[in-house]
Amino acid sequence: MTELMIRDAVASDIPALHALIESAYRGEASRAGWTTEADLLDGQRTDAEELASILSDPDQGLLTAWDGDTLVGCILIARREAGVGYFGMLSVRPKLQNAGLGRRLIATAEHTMAERFAAQRVRISVIPQRVALIAWYQRLGYTATGETLPFPYGDTRFGLPKRDDLSFIVMERHLSV
Ligand SMILES: CC(C)(COP(=O)(O)OP(=O)(O)OC[C@H]1O[C@@H](n2cnc3c(N)ncnc32)[C@H](O)[C@@H]1OP(=O)(O)O)[C@@H](O)C(=O)NCCC(=O)NCCS
Repeated sequence: MTELMIRDAVASDIPALHALIESAYRGEASRAGWTTEADLLDGQRTDAEELASILSDPDQGLLTAWDGDTLVGCILIARREAGVGYFGMLSVRPKLQNAGLGRRLIATAEHTMAERFAAQRVRISVIPQRVALIAWYQRLGYTATGETLPFPYGDTRFGLPKRDDLSFIVMERHLSV
């Protein structure tokens, strides 16, 4: 890989973003990575409509990592209540995982949300069955708040669950910037 560039996504990036996110989260392609939702969910992770609505919302955005003209990673950032940011849709091209890009995208997202949204805390939501992913977030300084959120069963925009016990746990990190 050459030197990566990280920049805000624009509308013309949506097709590449959609393909990247689906390939990282779902289906056989995602199994080339070290963590995926393929055992938990089929169907889509997002769609062009959701991505367009994120990019048109001043309180959200997507940061994208590029190796030349190739999109290799992305992360959603969002403003929550005062002083709180949120990240999600964290995706790294499966064959390029485990080389530090995921960690770098999180650090960039935290820094950007501190600057842009005055975030002092950053929150994420994770499916509890994803034990290795949760352990990684813990190594990055995130701890469970104790809050849980329901999985949106019945809304196929979030995918087709393979089991009936999915939910989210909320994790949070206090930024020291
Ligand atoms: C989560 C994801 C973005 C991580 O990206 P990445 O580029 O692999 O991340 P990094 O290389 O920075 O870090 C990988 C970490 O996983 C660890 N790891 C690698 N293989 C592992 C395995 N088989 N089991 C457990 N941990 C593993 C590495 O040791 C490293 O930990 P460290 O940073 O403490 O050293 C990427 O796996 C991905 O796109 N997954 C699919 C989408 C997804 O699940 N997103 C998160 C949903 S909330």
